[in-house]
Amino acid sequence: MALLQLAQAGCGGMGLRHVYGLAELRRCGFDTFDLAALCDLHRSAAEHVAREAEAALGLKPRVYTDFKAMLDAEPGLDAVNVVTDTRMHHAFALDAFDAGLHAAVEKPMGLTVRACRKMIDAASAAGRVLSVSENYRRDPMNRLAKALLRGGVVGEPRLALSAATYGGRGVRQVVAWRHMRDRGGLVLEYGVHASDLTLYFMGGVERVFAETHLWEKTRAMQKAEQPMQRFYDHRVREEVEEAGAIEATAEDTALALMRFTSGAIGQTTYSDAAPGEPSDTDVIYGSEGSLRLPGSRTGRPIHVTLSGRRSPVGQKDLLGQAPDFRLDEVTSKMFGGRDKMSSYDAALEQPDRKLIAIELQDFADAILSGRRPEVTGEEGLDAVALSYAILESGRLAQPVGFSDVRSDRVSAYQQPINAAAGL
Ligand SMILES: NC(=O)c1ccc[n+]([C@@H]2O[C@H](COP(=O)([O-])OP(=O)(O)OC[C@H]3O[C@@H](n4cnc5c(N)ncnc54)[C@H](O)[C@@H]3O)[C@@H](O)[C@H]2O)c1
Repeated sequence: MALLQLAQAGCGGMGLRHVYGLAELRRCGFDTFDLAALCDLHRSAAEHVAREAEAALGLKPRVYTDFKAMLDAEPGLDAVNVVTDTRMHHAFALDAFDAGLHAAVEKPMGLTVRACRKMIDAASAAGRVLSVSENYRRDPMNRLAKALLRGGVVGEPRLALSAATYGGRGVRQVVAWRHMRDRGGLVLEYGVHASDLTLYFMGGVERVFAETHLWEKTRAMQKAEQPMQRFYDHRVREEVEEAGAIEATAEDTALALMRFTSGAIGQTTYSDAAPGEPSDTDVIYGSEGSLRLPGSRTGRPIHVTLSGRRSPVGQKDLLGQAPDFRLDEVTSKMFGGRDKMSSYDAALEQPDRKLIAIELQDFADAILSGRRPEVTGEEGLDAVALSYAILESGRLAQPVGFSDVRSDRVSAYQQPINAAAGL
């Protein structure tokens, strides 16, 4: 069967990782895509990623610096993969649907709730697939956690606690836009992973009450020992990144309480301005015990501790608690052919490319079979809406209804962002 002809927009850090994801697909026997074309504002970045693609896939994609020019010059395309910074996600997805193409977009799906809604409507009008590349939930450990929760191993979920706190004073991965409110600041950029996982494990949210703050208003442009930093070496700096420091405009800290539609409650904290000991914690308490998530892409085991016990259930017994648990065929092939596992051992970069491969294969299968992708536009919007519910509540200093934010009825925080983006 002919391979799907794919073009990718965005050749920064994540753009490079997506090419490694395509290479991983090929390595594991999935002949799915030809990466026909790449586009980035900066030719040198696109050329670098094109050379990596050629080395890994045996075919050098054609390189463009203008997205529309690429679509015009590539009449044989089936789909585009949008991996630019978040500001362009909706614009490029809309152009793709206009051209009759399917589109996958990186998380966060869109810059605001309104941007996401436009993307959903355009995909539906064009009858094309819109798939959101949310990678964390596809980790085998998160699949197992979901199966354990579904099987009732900790009883009825009551309380979800998550905290991710770091004390950086520098610009995250030396990429300034992550600190800019109008371009999708930290609470959206990083928090949307937590939002997606929260919804995946706990179901719908009813209301949110949050406190938010911007502590580190000036951030230094310095390379730090950060995971994935090496994928950014070829990236071309923006003008604002040429100075020694940037002025941050997006909140770097958020602490939120949530009530779920199930009646459970939760708390989620994110901060990149909490100096000292970092924390990374994710625990769900149910009526019969607790489930501690190991952190996506770590491969560490899940800790299920049952009521009255001091130590967690052993790894072998854990799989016995979810007898129906099976990884899907694609995930299983990516992770060495096993269809169930309670841990895996691999350096971060390995699961990283595997999860990207899995989400891209899901996108392809949705195109070829006509089924929905796992993370549809509506689900991508849910995660964006939850992150914005936190920011909207922080702005209003009062609780907000999730459905009010999701339907764009509560949008004071997003209004200037929408205005700047012409939304
Ligand atoms: N899923 C994950 O784990 C994960 C991790 C990092 C980033 N991301 C997401 O991936 C996306 C890209 O992030 P990144 O870290 O690679 O950022 P980045 O700044 O390194 O890369 C963005 C690239 O897009 C290019 N670009 C911007 N506007 C463009 C335009 N109009 N036309 C063509 N190219 C354009 C830039 O030149 C840059 O090279 C973001 O949406 C981000 O949230 C996801």
